[in-house]
Amino acid sequence: MSFNTKDVVISEDRPKTLLLDKHSDYLASYGLNKDDYEYCMTEYIRVSGIYWSITAMELMGQSSRMPKEDIIEFITSCQDTESGGIAASIGHDPHILYTLSAIQVLAIYDRLEAIDVEGVVRYVASLQQADGSFFGDKWGEVDTRFSFCAVMCLSILHRLDAINVTKAVDFILGCMNFDGGFGSKPGSESHAGLIYCCVGTLSICKRMDALRADELAWWLCERQLPSGGLNGRPEKLPDLCYSWWVMSSLSMLNRIHWVDKKSLEQFILACQDAETGGFSDRPGDITDPFHTLFGLAGLSLLGDSSIKPVNPTYCMPQETIDSTCPTVGRRI
Ligand code: FPP
Repeated sequence: MSFNTKDVVISEDRPKTLLLDKHSDYLASYGLNKDDYEYCMTEYIRVSGIYWSITAMELMGQSSRMPKEDIIEFITSCQDTESGGIAASIGHDPHILYTLSAIQVLAIYDRLEAIDVEGVVRYVASLQQADGSFFGDKWGEVDTRFSFCAVMCLSILHRLDAINVTKAVDFILGCMNFDGGFGSKPGSESHAGLIYCCVGTLSICKRMDALRADELAWWLCERQLPSGGLNGRPEKLPDLCYSWWVMSSLSMLNRIHWVDKKSLEQFILACQDAETGGFSDRPGDITDPFHTLFGLAGLSLLGDSSIKPVNPTYCMPQETIDSTCPTVGRRI
């Protein structure tokens, strides 16, 4: 059976060089006008938005342009005093994803003491289930991405002892498919974003030996399309964020050279907007902080020396990981 390849054509006028100043201006001004339509519409993911922007600015060496003390105060106000979890915005429900983003930002700023750390540990531990899986919040959705959020969060806090790591790993391994990949729960199809989460979990829990590395890396490098971009599953269009989910997984597997780095770099550069700054999912689309982080982080993994080294497991500056948790998730 043959597959139709869905792809994009990169036109000649797309950017071919890295426009760092434009990206730094774009992120520094994002949210300055709190009445902006886009800013208002992203309130429900605010703390993750802050993580994407701060990490991108750190990787460019530009984080001094961000309002550090305001950000720390905002994150502190997002912690729910009862459960200990952190919400996306003030007054929202806490969730493990925003709890992780908050911890990542505070670790980058070296200001973890700004929140009730024991409360976070209690919250994350309370979400683990008898089969080792994790709920995302009190409403009970299970997903391998929540396992990753839990172990990453606790490893940054040096509190992995608060959960049953063996069971957490067993649940992840129960999600492994015939192709060596992973989905969101047992029996779900392989998906590059969730492969990143599962490989990342095993990397932090030091169980990379349990992977079928060659099979998995083969599935991952097959995500590259003729344009150079990567998709997240067969028959999908390329999307810049998969430059992160796929390449970070290949990096953890020590097989980053299995993709054509040159054509991927050209695809990533073509996703920049030379006028507004920032990166988009595909060449010519509207930019956003999420794709801007993954464009820069992807280029960092490809070895661009004008961007600081990024850690493939944590998606944080390697220098932060070296000072926070030096024994886990080393860049290969
Ligand atoms: C694609 O989702 C991406 C994923 C499933 C991975 C998400 C990972 C996390 C939330 C963990 C924390 C992340 C970091 C970087 C620390 P999608 O819903 O866009 O998938 P689609 O492309 O199939 O729509």
